[in-house]
Amino acid sequence: MSARRQRVEPFHAVAINRLAHERTRRGLDVFHMEVGQPSAGAPRAALAAAARALQDSRLGYWESGALKERIARHYAETYGVAIAPEQVVLTPGASGALLLAFTVLLDAGDRVALGRPGYPAYRNVLRTLGMEPVELACGPESRYQPTPAMIDALDPAPAALIVASPANPTGTMLARGELAALAAACRRRGIALISDEIYHGISYGEPAISALEVDASSLVINSFSKYWCMTGWRLGWLVAPESLVDSMSTYSGNIFLTPSALSQHAALAAMDAHEELGGHLATYAANRLLVMSTLRQLGITELAPADGAFYVYANIGHLTDDSLGFCKRLLADTGVAFNTGLDFDPLEGHRWLRISFAVSSAETDEAMRRFAAWLADRPDGNGSRRTSP
Ligand SMILES: Cc1ncc(COP(=O)(O)O)c(C=O)c1O
Repeated sequence: MSARRQRVEPFHAVAINRLAHERTRRGLDVFHMEVGQPSAGAPRAALAAAARALQDSRLGYWESGALKERIARHYAETYGVAIAPEQVVLTPGASGALLLAFTVLLDAGDRVALGRPGYPAYRNVLRTLGMEPVELACGPESRYQPTPAMIDALDPAPAALIVASPANPTGTMLARGELAALAAACRRRGIALISDEIYHGISYGEPAISALEVDASSLVINSFSKYWCMTGWRLGWLVAPESLVDSMSTYSGNIFLTPSALSQHAALAAMDAHEELGGHLATYAANRLLVMSTLRQLGITELAPADGAFYVYANIGHLTDDSLGFCKRLLADTGVAFNTGLDFDPLEGHRWLRISFAVSSAETDEAMRRFAAWLADRPDGNGSRRTSP
């Protein structure tokens, strides 16, 4: 077995998802709140554009100049930031953009700072590439986000910092001043800033700030998977600083050739589907309130501030120190699938749950009702019993 293969940890969400699908095969119902994907599909306009492309286009290797221009316009309209279409490198999802960014920007052996809890693929892909993730423990005092003081304290300085705002699994966001201060801390020490903006467009108060608004040299990653509800279409992008455009294009050509032609046709149309996508946001907002208020009523009160994305990250340490076993029992007993925090935090995640509420309001309602009844049914009453590991 290659040493590289041993560096990758399993995704528990995938294992829980597999169990959930087994239930479906047995004819039982399931509430999929374990995976980070919208239950709504691609916008209608995207499907129509894809159908047209199937008829009219050869769908060969192709990069859509119109899509790059449309994404550049998105930066002007959404953030007031001017970027050239050539700075946009289209990739197979944000996953492809992360791989590309790490490969072009960093060398084997480089240290890369990131917050814990955080998206597990960051550390797994870095390790696969022979790089060293440096996890910054982020708790409620910094709203689960890294701070400039944490960056200043790193010795030696890492080669890069990855931030995500809104973040997965916490949903917490960095305000403009906080993001600017982090960017300045990185600049002072020559640290590259990689900003994963995949949950932009999904927030419940102030809109998210792009790293490009506070630092033109930062490297920004985004995707059609979340706001645009196109997970399976595998299309994302990276905005490269001008100095890196050529090497990014060279590498992306070698690793990916081009992204899916069909998805590029669909994505261009999706970018104007504001009304339909706005409807999903209203559903998420209602679901978020319902999940948070139900958890609080159940005595699960330590919740990360879900400023954006579609997750609630909740501490259930008073109920169990085996959140994976807890999720499996809950699924087996009720059909409600949540994810363990272990995917996001190997040290503390056994006491945390992540609930994805990107499902319909009816599903959220029924899932939370079943969860509440399940907890209340436990021998010591409202979940106060510690579950066996
Ligand atoms: C924070 C974060 N970044 C990147 C990704 C990868 O997304 P995709 O490759 O579907 O664009 C995800 C997926 O859940 C994520 O949560």
